[in-house]
Amino acid sequence: MARAPRIKHYHAPGRVNLIGEHTDYNAGFVMPIAIAVGCDVRASSIRKKEIRLTSKQFAGDLAYPIDSIAGMSKTGTWADYVLGVAKQILALGFELKPMQLAIDSSVPTGSGLSSSAALEVSSALALLGDNEISKLELAQLCQRAEREFVGMPCGIMDQYASVFGEAHKAIMLDCRSNTHKLAPIPEGAEIVVVNSMVKHELGSSAYRDRVAECHQALSHFPGKPALRDVTLGELERTASRIEEIPLARARHVILEDMRVEDFLAAAQNNDLPLMGKLMVESHRSLQHDYEVSCVELDSLVDTALTIDGVYGARMTGGGFGGCTVNLVEPPSVDQFEKEISARYHAKWNLTPAVYRFTPSAGARRVE
Ligand code: GLA
Repeated sequence: MARAPRIKHYHAPGRVNLIGEHTDYNAGFVMPIAIAVGCDVRASSIRKKEIRLTSKQFAGDLAYPIDSIAGMSKTGTWADYVLGVAKQILALGFELKPMQLAIDSSVPTGSGLSSSAALEVSSALALLGDNEISKLELAQLCQRAEREFVGMPCGIMDQYASVFGEAHKAIMLDCRSNTHKLAPIPEGAEIVVVNSMVKHELGSSAYRDRVAECHQALSHFPGKPALRDVTLGELERTASRIEEIPLARARHVILEDMRVEDFLAAAQNNDLPLMGKLMVESHRSLQHDYEVSCVELDSLVDTALTIDGVYGARMTGGGFGGCTVNLVEPPSVDQFEKEISARYHAKWNLTPAVYRFTPSAGARRVE
């Protein structure tokens, strides 16, 4: 009797960013948590020299000859996240073994909870097999796949959070040194995520524009490698020479970096009101200076702030739809969920999904 093929199972989580938005590609600070939803990849060896992909969420049985992968151009489908990773693995000089990857993701796509990073990281673990690389190299390999193959000029936050996530802790990541400190989540607060159920199309082109606008602002500070290195005082003294839009983008980035550091200190001091206040300031800055929010996210935040037991609320992730993250005292969470759902539905005729997330462990082989 033929033996059933051995299946290796890998899991990589999505993430919610608590604070520090659009700072990662400016060498700044971010503070995400990895979450309980993620992407599972089950890998089995096959004879034919191919990488085969199936997904529970997307139809099709896709097959790519291993010899063709190095020269492939992007397909414009979800498979690009896996193919981009496969190309990066080849570029590191590793061999790809013929295998079938059965993919199943519980991260809602388009929600801003990093379904793509979860797919990249879990596929990378599967495709690497016994080839060992460090955790940071794994995160960077996946980031390169997204930047170079998918064509999205993202920072390191999503892939890093998926790889380095820790149960019960947030990750305060320095995107210059690519090192992190663990931050406590004070008892007395739950992280409640509300999905607006909208994703506006201009998201990825606006992301590119923001990256370019940050570079434009930085060009006024010769010798400074990133906006991370510009102080508020320096920005104010140069303001009259910078065009209005890049100036507003730079103001967001500089103040947001300061907020992440303040948020870490507040978390360490169990100061929930201050954490909440910083989240709201972050949202207002993303709304007005960075202009990556949208009316649905603004209404979720505005509504949340009128509900009892809410310390703070803000959009999370790239913006233009997706989710808000709310810091809520535990006894008020049920009521919060009811009220925010009812009021959002009444306004937009959409039922938001509400998730209660605790920080979860990062990517791993499951069995
Ligand atoms: C997306 C990108 C991240 C980060 C956020 C905004 O999620 O993938 O690198 O820039 O947007 O903070």
